[in-house]
Amino acid sequence: MTDIIQSENALLKKIKNDFIGLDTVYTLADGRKTTRVYLDSTASTLMMGPAYDILEEFLDHYANSHSVLHFSAKITTSQYEWAHQRVLSFLGADPEKYTCFFTGSGTTAGINRLARVLRDYRKEKDIVLISIMEHHSNDLPHRKHAGKVIHISLDNSAQGQPGCLDIRALEKNLDKYKDRVNYVSITGISNVTGIINPIYDIAELAHSYGALILIDGAQTAAHMPVQMSGHSNPDRDLDAFIFSGHKTYVPGSPGVVVCRKDILLSIEPEELGGGMVDDVFIDKYIIKDNFPDREEAGTPNIPGAIALAAAIEVMDKIGMDIIYHEEDELVKNTMERMKTIQDIAIYGETDISKCSRAGSISFNIKGMDHGLVASVLNDYFNIAVRNECFCAHPYVKELILDDLLEAVTDIPDNELESKYKLIAGMVRASFGIYNKHEDVDALISALKQIVTQKNEFKQLYHVDETGNYVHNTFKIDIENNFSVSNAINSLLNI
Ligand SMILES: Cc1ncc(COP(=O)(O)O)c(C=O)c1O
Repeated sequence: MTDIIQSENALLKKIKNDFIGLDTVYTLADGRKTTRVYLDSTASTLMMGPAYDILEEFLDHYANSHSVLHFSAKITTSQYEWAHQRVLSFLGADPEKYTCFFTGSGTTAGINRLARVLRDYRKEKDIVLISIMEHHSNDLPHRKHAGKVIHISLDNSAQGQPGCLDIRALEKNLDKYKDRVNYVSITGISNVTGIINPIYDIAELAHSYGALILIDGAQTAAHMPVQMSGHSNPDRDLDAFIFSGHKTYVPGSPGVVVCRKDILLSIEPEELGGGMVDDVFIDKYIIKDNFPDREEAGTPNIPGAIALAAAIEVMDKIGMDIIYHEEDELVKNTMERMKTIQDIAIYGETDISKCSRAGSISFNIKGMDHGLVASVLNDYFNIAVRNECFCAHPYVKELILDDLLEAVTDIPDNELESKYKLIAGMVRASFGIYNKHEDVDALISALKQIVTQKNEFKQLYHVDETGNYVHNTFKIDIENNFSVSNAINSLLNI
């Protein structure tokens, strides 16, 4: 066992250095050229080197998976089918009971699709329960397609900052709306705070009230092991799980849906077209009953799916539990060190013993707007982070409410609207498999410097007409860093 862990760690060490974009250099506002520190993986992860290499190799054989008899078609079809099976085993989903299909460019497409599927599957049920911490993509599709959405509050029992979904509040609502609840849709990990929800406990509770459970796995798939089926108590199994390839180390790959086959089989597929029908007549059509074909109308993103399956294969070879523990150490260490810096407020429950986290830490520096902090981190430290509300407005507003109230007391009423964007938000540092302690050191040292030189940095920026912080003199030379037409010219030597 120890040998296995050691060899898996050796693989992790090797893979950590094999991502495209780890050596990207930019010129900073003070003229220095430094290597970018990428702390924006919650938005999109960098490309895994082996997945890119496998994709290049595969492209020698690329063809349409709906062609049948030539060599390349056979190879493409077999490997594309394998990609589906690979996802099922990655998520611990029994292939007899579950299917995987690729759709759109991310989680959003998959959730919209399933909201329509579940609406049609149980037309008599008109309520969906989600949490207040959901990304808009796990909220608005249910509002549009599936019925009335009720937002469940978060656990505040420790009197600290909000933690994960409040299981008692969920039970109260399941009990109150009983037969009307179609499904519960919950994020596995928050894209704002990185807080981890107890998805299997939530599944058990939802099932005990006859509700289905759908997991927004956009932030979960790349960060922790998932077991969709095979629990000793089958109520803990998940009915559906959706994630994004571009957050799982393969930019350009599709969104992924894993769902119980019996649900999908009981209604006509939501999307129709070529590739999913056995036969078509002028007055009728016959839909295939085999998966995943019946769920994938049109020509799919085959190269993206193959590259994604390659990345997943590598992650499984390392071991998702090992990846989780490695990242857990990094997040804990970052948070503990951030807590010691004066004027930094970290959002969400920060006591790891009460509430685990993975992937993201969101914060503000007292007396500085989030946009200014993110700009300074980029322009003077080459640290790439995200700011604003991360497409989770209700959650972010709840977390920053006290800061917001404090800030607005200093702002005259007539300036409130224009200043709102500047104060309503946070800065998010987020991590992937490639981040190292050196990246954390860089972040901590930058934050310390920013906190001690707040006023100096403020003088260097102004707010432009779009409400964004802009450096007074420094501007990135985009064309000189990268432009498609320049790259083509140099490639073709013209
Ligand atoms: C938790 C969560 N759900 C859904 C989404 C939407 O994913 P995509 O942009 O891949 O559609 C995101 C994206 O950040 C997310 O973090």
